[in-house]
Amino acid sequence: MMHVGREFFHQSESERVKHYSADTKKTTRLSTSFNVSKEKVSNWRDFLRLHCYPIEDFIDEWPSTPVSFREVTAEYATSVRALVLTLLEAISESLGLVKDRISNTLGKHGQHMAINYYPPCPQPELTYGLPGHKDANLITVLLQDEVSGLQVFKDGKWIAVNPVPNTFIVNLGDQMQVISNDKYKSVLHRAVVNSDKERISIPTFYCPSEDAMIGPAQELVNEEEASHAIYRNFTYAEYFEKFWDTAFATESCINSFKASTA
Ligand code: OGA
Ligand code: NI
Repeated sequence: MMHVGREFFHQSESERVKHYSADTKKTTRLSTSFNVSKEKVSNWRDFLRLHCYPIEDFIDEWPSTPVSFREVTAEYATSVRALVLTLLEAISESLGLVKDRISNTLGKHGQHMAINYYPPCPQPELTYGLPGHKDANLITVLLQDEVSGLQVFKDGKWIAVNPVPNTFIVNLGDQMQVISNDKYKSVLHRAVVNSDKERISIPTFYCPSEDAMIGPAQELVNEEEASHAIYRNFTYAEYFEKFWDTAFATESCINSFKASTA
């Protein structure tokens, strides 16, 4: 997967720009920075974003060059989905829920993928590949090449998550925080860039389908013990709209969905 991702970005600009769009609603698009129509400061990143579940609905929009792109990406997406479903069972059980509980809240399920390309940057101290953020989706499985760049915020400090060959990084996103009623927290992370090396990372964002109703799992909410629902119910479409509407900021939009305590 890393190989076809790199080959995609090493193609000529005229080949790549065929996929360019600033419209965040497009299901297959190449863009730059994070959200060029909202942000004031750009980030040192190009990305190709693909929807990949169900594959048949989207594969015909995917780039057809490099020639193996669709085949390799389809196989990768299918394997990552199987891994995610296993992780969701384990996470459900860790919360004391039946194992298909989280999976059952996701409606028809959704899976997006990004291929992030961070070119070498002449002045890396002046910009980010991606500034600090929390992923809006449920759970992210990140494949990275051998170049460092990812950092997570822990105990008041940014900590480098240096690549370990043949491993994935698994990040929890905002929907997991909501469903678990804050038992799990979505993780603040960012990507820094290097002056001498390009870097590629390929996150798979697993998410609810747009019509899925998300909220704290009822089993985790108990009025008497004062563990009331921290968030109100909302559709994932509502959440995602808010997400794209916000300039990329350290504060995720999760707070807009807090239950009213009045
Ligand atoms: C992302 C992200 C980190 C990285 O795309 O949401 O956090 O290492 N990427 O590129
Ligand atoms: Ni992220």
